[in-house]
Amino acid sequence: MPTDKGSRTAILLDCDTGVDDTMAIMLACLSPEIELVGVGTIWGNVDRDLATQNTLNILAMCGRSDVPVAAGATTPLNGADVDYGYFVHGKDGQGNRGMKGKYGKSIEMSAAEFIVDSCRKRPGEIELVPVGPLTNIALALQLEPTLPKLVRGITIMGGAALAPGNVSPVAEANIWHDAEAASEVFLAQWPITMVGLDVTMRTLLTEEHFDRMRNGGGISKYMAQIAEFYTTFNQERSFGRRLSTMHDAVAVGLAANLVRAKVAPVVNVEVDTTDGPGRGQTICDLRGIYMNFPSQENAHCRVPLELEDGFPDFFTDLIVAAGEPAVNVE
Ligand code: RIB
Ligand code: CA
Repeated sequence: MPTDKGSRTAILLDCDTGVDDTMAIMLACLSPEIELVGVGTIWGNVDRDLATQNTLNILAMCGRSDVPVAAGATTPLNGADVDYGYFVHGKDGQGNRGMKGKYGKSIEMSAAEFIVDSCRKRPGEIELVPVGPLTNIALALQLEPTLPKLVRGITIMGGAALAPGNVSPVAEANIWHDAEAASEVFLAQWPITMVGLDVTMRTLLTEEHFDRMRNGGGISKYMAQIAEFYTTFNQERSFGRRLSTMHDAVAVGLAANLVRAKVAPVVNVEVDTTDGPGRGQTICDLRGIYMNFPSQENAHCRVPLELEDGFPDFFTDLIVAAGEPAVNVE
């Protein structure tokens, strides 16, 4: 297992820290294959300040208060009113069972400035992994138009190619929240991996996984505890039984090769920014599906459609082995 700094994947996360973002942060902290460079925060599941505090708390829990956290945007690019996802992630973004304490402090830079600064310092090395609305990434692109040349790539949790949406019949939440930002990000010329609902709605934690977490160390117990509310939402809204998505952790897993895609064509993708029923849709050109996806001119977006099995087990094993939290999580 590669663990030295040079062979680890350097990941800069950007989170709207609710329950599945917490899974992503834990995975990035605990996996020896990942160097977590920092975390930007954004509104989405919860407001920006709560996303920031949740991020700081989870890092402290994992003994990683050394990881810089930069607070980001509080509204979409167009300044529209925002809807938070408290009904999915609980009032505290932690299934109403989060930590009482407040640990750590964000850095002075904004998330967009931090992204640009980090990528300038390490050209070609960093994989951006935004798992919330794409506003911070669009702002970073505005600050530094050559950003696409400064990163290793960008792995986005968002969108849906063939799967239905989860906010509208066609739109996934992270894209829907700021369709204009998403459009700018997909138009930029960098290697994108779009980790959409096609794969994240089929990569699921079961009650058996959560039982193992409940019986594991304190970090995994905390994970099982905060996931109860979220699993109830998943049960009522999507699956009819107690299964939990782990959207954002899947994006981190793919970015660091902890899980691999079996089918992942590189295709052109456009974001619908109209005000009609298609708003927020990621329109993926999958017309090559019957010919094993011949290459498309200018295409730079890899769209996983099917993953290898085993990622929920891998994730569960990792956090069950993580042991006790570094701070009090009561
Ligand atoms: O649609 C799922 C995505 O929206 C996840 O990133 C979840 O955390 C929310 O941000
Ligand atoms: Ca998220």
